[in-house]
Amino acid sequence: MYYAHITGWGCAVPEKVLTNADLEKMVETSDAWIVERSGIRERHIAGEGESSATLGVQAAWKALEVAGVRPSELDLIICATSSPEHIFPATACIIQDKLGAARAGAFDLSAACSGFIFALQMAAQAIRSGALKTVLVVGAETLSRLTNWSDRNTCILFGDGAGAFVLQASRQPGGVLSAVMRADGSGASLLSVPAGGSRQPATEETVKAGMHFIHMDGREVFRFATRVMGSATQEALAAAGIDLAEVRWIVPHQANARIIEAAARFLKLPLDRFVVNLERYGNTSTASIPLAVCEAVEDGRIQPGDRLVLVAFGAGLTWGALVAEWSGPFSAERRIRPGLYRLWAGIRSFFRRLSRFLESLVWGRKA
Ligand code: COA
Repeated sequence: MYYAHITGWGCAVPEKVLTNADLEKMVETSDAWIVERSGIRERHIAGEGESSATLGVQAAWKALEVAGVRPSELDLIICATSSPEHIFPATACIIQDKLGAARAGAFDLSAACSGFIFALQMAAQAIRSGALKTVLVVGAETLSRLTNWSDRNTCILFGDGAGAFVLQASRQPGGVLSAVMRADGSGASLLSVPAGGSRQPATEETVKAGMHFIHMDGREVFRFATRVMGSATQEALAAAGIDLAEVRWIVPHQANARIIEAAARFLKLPLDRFVVNLERYGNTSTASIPLAVCEAVEDGRIQPGDRLVLVAFGAGLTWGALVAEWSGPFSAERRIRPGLYRLWAGIRSFFRRLSRFLESLVWGRKA
């Protein structure tokens, strides 16, 4: 029997920071209102040339470096994202090319802010079944590109960033222990980007009406979130056969401090058992949980052997929780040099494009 261990982690956020004071100049709001209602003080916003894939690639290199895993060892890349580069191709394929992960399959997973948990569970199941050995899971977002910066109901909430985990197979017990994944599509309209898909293709009218931006019923989403965070945590713990008292950290989706406080009350846990960093990043959707985990690992709060619950909710509606025992790298001595692999990935990609171009010339002449 195989277990799926989390052996590498990495995060990336854009340099540019947008504070509540900056937002005060853009819409009718105030720092006091935003902090009181959401807990958010600032968020990172992608600059020109940055996108979900570029942030995802940065996070992925860090995760590979920590794990000591070469891109060529990856069997699969799953990118959970709500702000993909395109409707297709998948953002995961762009990340695969930039990493030069020649053997890896790659696909995107769309479960909104629950996406990172769903993707981890898919990766873990593939590893546990014995089908795959090494999987990269990325959560990458540039929600700022889908945000209506004149809508104060939504523009205060979201931020950009990416996080990545490497999962590896081992016969040693540990790693991902259980997960629950849930959905309720009857609430699909509560949080959506209404136009730009096949249901309502982008037209001049849809753009004029701002239907390519995030639309949200904040109060309803809030109510739903407070209902599911605690119960999903309990379900995942029951599936793992673990008591809440054995859990060192709860890492919740970083959407709103009041939602996290409600979950803490439901679970009868003090807030200091929760990893919270939303005041500096806002809601980064699929990146929010890995961003919080990375910080807590790097400052020493999360240690190997610690049991964690990751719990999220999002558009769909979707929600889920995952129980894991934190592993750390299999071998701290195994070093990879991302700089060299980055160079190699660039050369590989260039020659692949060149060979496709030459092939098209030859075929063109034959036809
Ligand atoms: N600044 C000042 N006032 C604002 C505001 C802003 N940025 N946004 C809304 N308001 C106003 C509203 O217009 C409303 O005024 P009204 O009573 O005159 O209509 C008032 O503040 C209260 O709005 P309400 O929506 O009840 O506030 P809230 O306490 O529910 O907080 C959210 C709003 C969005 C912060 C909160 O509902 C929330 O976080 N919901 C969940 C959203 C979420 O997590 N989405 C992502 C899911 S992954």
